[in-house]
Amino acid sequence: MACESSSAKPAFFLSLLCFLLGMASAQLSGTFYSSSCPSALSTIKSAVSSAVSSEARMGASLLRLHFHDCFVNGCDGSILLDDTANFTGEKNAAPNANSVRGFDVIDTIKSQLESKCPGVVSCADIVAVAARDSVVALGGSSWTVLLGRRDSTTASQSAANANIPAPTLSLSGLISAFSNKGFTAKEMVALSGSHTIGQARCTVFRARLYNENNINATFATSLKASCPSSGGDNNLSPLDTTSPTSFDNAYFKNLQIQKGLLHSDQQLFSGGSTDAQVNAYSGNAATFKTDFANAMVKMGNLSPLTGSNGQIRKNCRRVN
Ligand code: HEM
Ligand SMILES: *[C@@H]1O[C@H](CO)[C@@H](O)[C@H](O)[C@H]1NC(C)=O
Ligand SMILES: *[C@@H]1O[C@H](CO)[C@@H](O)[C@H](O)[C@H]1NC(C)=O
Repeated sequence: MACESSSAKPAFFLSLLCFLLGMASAQLSGTFYSSSCPSALSTIKSAVSSAVSSEARMGASLLRLHFHDCFVNGCDGSILLDDTANFTGEKNAAPNANSVRGFDVIDTIKSQLESKCPGVVSCADIVAVAARDSVVALGGSSWTVLLGRRDSTTASQSAANANIPAPTLSLSGLISAFSNKGFTAKEMVALSGSHTIGQARCTVFRARLYNENNINATFATSLKASCPSSGGDNNLSPLDTTSPTSFDNAYFKNLQIQKGLLHSDQQLFSGGSTDAQVNAYSGNAATFKTDFANAMVKMGNLSPLTGSNGQIRKNCRRVN
């Protein structure tokens, strides 16, 4: 069916129909694996718990993996595909190269699920559940992960470069990057609260450290020790200087005293339209966690492949 048309009135009804069909075909369900793979959720949860207890940062990495999957043509496992001689995927896109991690944990979970329920649980769903379990393991609120996503047979490096927001963005750039995916500015602020966990490389915050004025002076001085003006590109610093392995609201408290690590972080509290929301989350951790969980459900619903679209990959790194 042609879901693009240019004539006026029929076009409206056609797009309404296409919209409704799109909703129906994109329907995910919390009980999707209840009979086909009853141990799917518990298998993922225990693998994530053990990964996070050996390295707390892995929880942050798995959360980010889901974000970088969903913002690039939907939550379809496209980020997991390895480049080959004749295939260029998303792993080496600028925001991902030498940065995104967690692939080994996903592989481990996938192989456990392939032995329990072969060909049933998609890689895209594993990433979505692992993100939720990571947040919970580090102290965030839980949410029900809707399931039934299928895996892509393609990936797009150019879409990854175009759709994943850069840390150099201004507040209006951040608002529009998220608006392009259907999120409000308030949801963008909540989702940015992900930076209450995890680490960033010197190369992504050096310019802020040496060139910006709205950075706390003592904070900047201490960061400079491991992030010199040249060299040390891959040296890590926590995104939340206070409690980097705890999913709390310290990120927002840091922004209020100019301790945002990334330029984009501090943009959320720099005299603009999102200051009030930062103050609200800084003052109320429970509201932040609830809004975050709701925004994550919404992110997980971005353009899933369902029905006869896509496939259930046997190995998350390559198409079947
Ligand atoms: C608002 C726009 C955002 C920008 C500009 C941004 C940018 C970045 C950058 C530059 C890093 C460090 C990468 C590196 O050092 O290689 C990072 C890390 C991280 N981001 Fe974001 N991000 C944004 C939103 C989000 C969202 C929405 C999530 C999750 C829902 C997220 C989750 C994370 C996590 C957890 C880390 C730490 C990962 C780790 O330690 O492995 N970010 N982000
Ligand atoms: C891509 O390359 C692999 C070997 O690296 C080969 O097996 C496969 O058939 C190639 N696919 C296409 C479509 O050329
Ligand atoms: C810088 O951080 C200190 C706490 O470490 C805080 O007392 C001070 O108010 C901050 N400065 C600014 C300008 O926010």
